[in-house]
Amino acid sequence: MPLLELTNLYKCFGRFAAVAGVSLHVNAGEIVGLIGPNGSGKSTLLSTVAGAYQPNDGTINFDGQPIGGLSPDKVFDRGLARSYQDPSLFFRMSALDNALLPAREQRGEQARFAPFRGRWWTQERENTAEAAAILADLKIDDRAHAPASDLSGGQMKLLEMGRTLMGEPKMLLLDEPTAGVAPALAYTIFEEIERMRTAHGLTFLIVEHRLEILFDFVDRLYVMHMGQVIAEGKPAAIEQDAFVREVYFGE
Ligand SMILES: Nc1ncnc2c1ncn2[C@@H]1O[C@H](COP(=O)(O)OP(=O)(O)OP(=O)(O)O)[C@@H](O)[C@H]1O
Ligand SMILES: [Mg+2]
Repeated sequence: MPLLELTNLYKCFGRFAAVAGVSLHVNAGEIVGLIGPNGSGKSTLLSTVAGAYQPNDGTINFDGQPIGGLSPDKVFDRGLARSYQDPSLFFRMSALDNALLPAREQRGEQARFAPFRGRWWTQERENTAEAAAILADLKIDDRAHAPASDLSGGQMKLLEMGRTLMGEPKMLLLDEPTAGVAPALAYTIFEEIERMRTAHGLTFLIVEHRLEILFDFVDRLYVMHMGQVIAEGKPAAIEQDAFVREVYFGE
């Protein structure tokens, strides 16, 4: 059974279907790419899977359970985390505090626990150690106490991706993990993705425009065009696909 399976998924804005009947699946342990021209519905698809939008039709199954229509925090609790196309860090907070945010949102600040220090104190310390370890893995631990605004574009992307590990996810949805990042560091980000797959047994669905890097790391790809999947396959086959070349590469 696939870890993530979408069947005939629709997300409409008014009468416009940004996602228009998408079926796709991602198996446990896979790194799958999602590509397509600007406006083809990739980000809308990720947002719908992550619970930011209610699907208008179709089903989303994750880890054997339907998750379509669940709120983003419920989806996150099930083990499906996401990163955003635009940086979503709190720039005046330290890198370490940014890394701690997902964990806090999930557990630490629940009203029913807050009055009882003993119930969250240990967890808080464990979380801090875990966040520090994540920063060390990403080789940005020297910036732990600097404001996030001091990080380079690539380090911000690494932090956004790395902090999703705080929720101990099974799968990550990444929207353009190398957007605005210098080419050398863009490659490092994908090496980090591969390392995270091995070290944490993670599964990835990745939207990315830098195909020359993406194609080196993905097991398979889906191509979207006008809200629909128009092709699926391994990088070598996708590169040769005449329709993909027409709509995406303008040939
Ligand atoms: N909140 C919204 N309200 C109305 N229309 C939207 C909204 N979000 C996206 N759209 C429209 O849906 C379509 C798909 O947008 P989406 O952002 O999903 O594309 P994308 O494939 O991620 O593009 P890009 O590669 O440029 O990031 C576009 O036509 C866009 O204008
Ligand atoms: Mg997008």
